[in-house]
Amino acid sequence: MYEFDVAAGSKAELYRDMLAALDALTGDESDATANMANAAALLWQYLPDLNWAGFYRMVNGELVLGPFQGKAACIRIPLGKGVCGTAAATATTQIVADVHAFPGHIACDAASRSELVVPIVRDGAVVAVIDLDSPSPARFDEADATGCEAIAALLATRL
Ligand code: SME
Repeated sequence: MYEFDVAAGSKAELYRDMLAALDALTGDESDATANMANAAALLWQYLPDLNWAGFYRMVNGELVLGPFQGKAACIRIPLGKGVCGTAAATATTQIVADVHAFPGHIACDAASRSELVVPIVRDGAVVAVIDLDSPSPARFDEADATGCEAIAALLATRL
């Protein structure tokens, strides 16, 4: 059994603690699905005000749904489409304060109002993206982007 206490603190502390938990959980495990599943669980447990947290994986040139927490979601996303496809095609983090204002946003859960997508890059190629959705507008800021980029950098070595 794994128990991780989520202490009240700054966002930076929250991400630091989550990264340490993820490092402990994935350090001795090479199975990508298991590591993404535990990462999705930690994101869901540590970060308040989410309605979806999980992964899309790059498979034969398109994004395919990976382990997640939240409601059932779109299975395949073409590169360049939606927030996830944009992050994957450009290998850049996308912070979207208002998903309704994002051209081509793909609505998997009608409750989503804002979104953060962070690419996981290995050997110069995007291998997956982390996708976080919130029911609150402008839920994600630079501290979330920085925190999730650290999570992505760790996972790049564990997928
Ligand atoms: N909204 C995303 C699709 C994935 S779901 O949010 C889980 C997008 O526009 O890429």
